[in-house]
Amino acid sequence: MIVGVPREIKEGENRVALNPAGAHILTGSGHRVLVEAGAGEQSGISDAEYRAGGAEVLRDVSRLWDLADMIVKVKEPLPAEFGYFKPGQILFTYLHLASSKDVTKALLKGGVTAIGYETLETSDHQLPLLVPMSEVAGKLAAQSGAIHLQKHNGGRGVLLGGVPGVAPAEVVILGCGAVGLNAAKVAMGMGAHVTIMDIDHSRLKYLDDIVHGNAFTVFADPLSIAHAASYADLLIGAVLRPGARTPHLVTEAMVKAMKPGSVIVDVAIDQGGCVATSKPTTHAKPTYIKHEVVHYCVTNIPSAVPRTSTFALTNATISYVRSIADLGIEEAAGRDPAIARGLNTQDGKIIHPAVREAFPALGRK
Ligand SMILES: NC(=O)c1ccc[n+]([C@@H]2O[C@H](COP(=O)([O-])OP(=O)(O)OC[C@H]3O[C@@H](n4cnc5c(N)ncnc54)[C@H](O)[C@@H]3O)[C@@H](O)[C@H]2O)c1
Repeated sequence: MIVGVPREIKEGENRVALNPAGAHILTGSGHRVLVEAGAGEQSGISDAEYRAGGAEVLRDVSRLWDLADMIVKVKEPLPAEFGYFKPGQILFTYLHLASSKDVTKALLKGGVTAIGYETLETSDHQLPLLVPMSEVAGKLAAQSGAIHLQKHNGGRGVLLGGVPGVAPAEVVILGCGAVGLNAAKVAMGMGAHVTIMDIDHSRLKYLDDIVHGNAFTVFADPLSIAHAASYADLLIGAVLRPGARTPHLVTEAMVKAMKPGSVIVDVAIDQGGCVATSKPTTHAKPTYIKHEVVHYCVTNIPSAVPRTSTFALTNATISYVRSIADLGIEEAAGRDPAIARGLNTQDGKIIHPAVREAFPALGRK
């Protein structure tokens, strides 16, 4: 198969879908890999490194799309890319189609077989292509929180780990899945006093077993959340209700009752946020202050560390890319239900139930 890797053109997107090691795995299996010139630049990967991995570097992106049987990307295609689609072409990327009618329509019109990273789901309900970015976002959430607690960044001037004789910062993590656990690891590693909150008893039990008294687990009922918010120096929102908007578990009254100069990092902002006063921000201007509390609500946190994110993404996607390239989409999806669940559109029809539910009038051929 010919696998194409274009440069990402979405504003602020610095990742690339495949690193040279991924290209090497595919070319080693007899496939051709075409990479757009400069595609890896923002992730610190040169064209020469791709060539060393066996890939061919193309300047002409329209030729790349034209030649490729499968396009591997990071973000959803943008209107500038819709014209490249060809019937039967496989597109493997983050899609989030249920919230994007225009992209859905373009994929149907182009006859593209589109597989969404975020919808590829294993039989035990894991989302293996979302987890790596949550791990990155979780670790960065604690790091960014520590930086914004500094006085010159609007924070209350508290060092996360404290020093001998001075207590460390109080870090409260609301929702403790992939993001929350990774935030906890960094916050604990920096010496903070960490409270982990969730409503899933089995998750709380698991966390309690692995943190060994280095953090405290608390059931996330509204009274406990209000209490935790009142003593937090840093509150990290990391809740996910699959398929639904995140509930505002931290109300505006709770934010008003937080300590002046405390910091909220609402990682869940890409699903609406779990704090009532959160609104989306960008890496260019990541924070704002509301009720004397610093809010950090960047919607694409992993893009701040594109090199780590690119390598983590390739590690997670490469076995699926290789399977689809080796077997073709029909057989790969037949053998692996996770790939079958990831299918969003094919032959001008919507395959994924959530996308069909979002756009009942589309793709009924
Ligand atoms: N901003 C970014 O760049 C970025 C990057 C990655 C992930 N995210 C977002 O971070 C959030 C967390 O992602 P994840 O991968 O850790 O999800 P996850 O499913 O692994 O974990 C979510 C946790 O939230 C818990 N939860 C659900 N409802 C709750 C409630 N009412 N109270 C307390 N806990 C509750 C669940 O039990 C689970 O443990 C998601 O909204 C995701 O979209 C954002």
